[in-house]
Amino acid sequence: MKNMEQNKDLIILGIESSCDETAIAITINGELKANVISSQIEVHQKYGGVMPEIASRLHLENIAVVLDEALKKSGIKMEQVSAIAFTRGPGLIGALHVGLQAAKTLALIYDKPLIPVHHLAGHIYANEFIEPLIFPCLAVVVSGGNTELVYMKEHLSFEIIGETIDDAIGESYDKVARVLGLPYPGGVAIDKLAKEGEHTYQLPEPLKDNSLNVSYSGLKTAVINLVNKEKMLGHEINVPNMAKSFQDVAIKEIMDRVIRASKMYDIKEIVLAGGVSANSYLRSEIVKEFENTPIKVVIPPLWATTDNAAMICKVGEYLYKKGLFTDLSIGVDPSWKIEDYDKF
Ligand code: KG4
Repeated sequence: MKNMEQNKDLIILGIESSCDETAIAITINGELKANVISSQIEVHQKYGGVMPEIASRLHLENIAVVLDEALKKSGIKMEQVSAIAFTRGPGLIGALHVGLQAAKTLALIYDKPLIPVHHLAGHIYANEFIEPLIFPCLAVVVSGGNTELVYMKEHLSFEIIGETIDDAIGESYDKVARVLGLPYPGGVAIDKLAKEGEHTYQLPEPLKDNSLNVSYSGLKTAVINLVNKEKMLGHEINVPNMAKSFQDVAIKEIMDRVIRASKMYDIKEIVLAGGVSANSYLRSEIVKEFENTPIKVVIPPLWATTDNAAMICKVGEYLYKKGLFTDLSIGVDPSWKIEDYDKF
């Protein structure tokens, strides 16, 4: 077995490279000592979205620099690290491979255990930088690539009780923003403009069933068709009003399922997770909905809504305590299900 008992302190080095942020963090007994993030957002903005091949190349260029900075900031030497936790999926395959290769190389050179971490588990556990999770917990995972309601009876127990049947919520924000001529990432721009607009455009309610699933593809298409129709008629689109009309329907879609889940399941706490959890309207709606109920709502700090490696360290600690290690033959899984977080 690897040299795991050298330190009394639990020191986790976390690596995140699933999309367009190259990130490395270091925690000592749960306390964040370094959280370095190199964002590629400005490069991808030129293309109106993340270009996977460019993302991989930039991860390769940046990862050693990010590692060096994280070690310097934390004052930790590689020899002291207890284990290396890395994002194994879901995410962009080439981007994930860069983080995996960095993790394997460090594990090989320094003879450290490797811990594969599920990216969305990371987003959920980012909330533990505010306070410990309370169970049973409903995690509302809303990001650029995923939209899931995850029921957690206890630590590291993940059951998907609802999910998107087509697009992720963040993806629909990004595509609607694009057709409105707004910059990437579209969620930020729509959130801001919606505050200035009114709900004047009629958009269809996406999924009319009694399940906990959501749908965003039809809503996105309805906006695109409406914008194109108005353009053909020579009408100008009122962008703030369209942003507000779209956002109202998009957030209602997920909020309806959260409310339904809260009636169907025993839930003590609801946590938001993922990039769209930065959305100001979703934050205020969920707080308002549950403020006079026994269900506690936890909102992640804004820094934790974007991709980071601190959250990978946080899950890594729990997995370390569970003894969930892997060897150098591990690969990435771009569509890894959270329920299979311990299968690799
Ligand atoms: O979690 P994340 O960084 O990427 C994935 O791992 O998928 O989420 C990025 C997504 C993008 O679609 C972006 O438009 C959206 O989060 N987003 C927002 C806001 N800030 C970021 N969506 C709505 N409102 C926001 N304020």
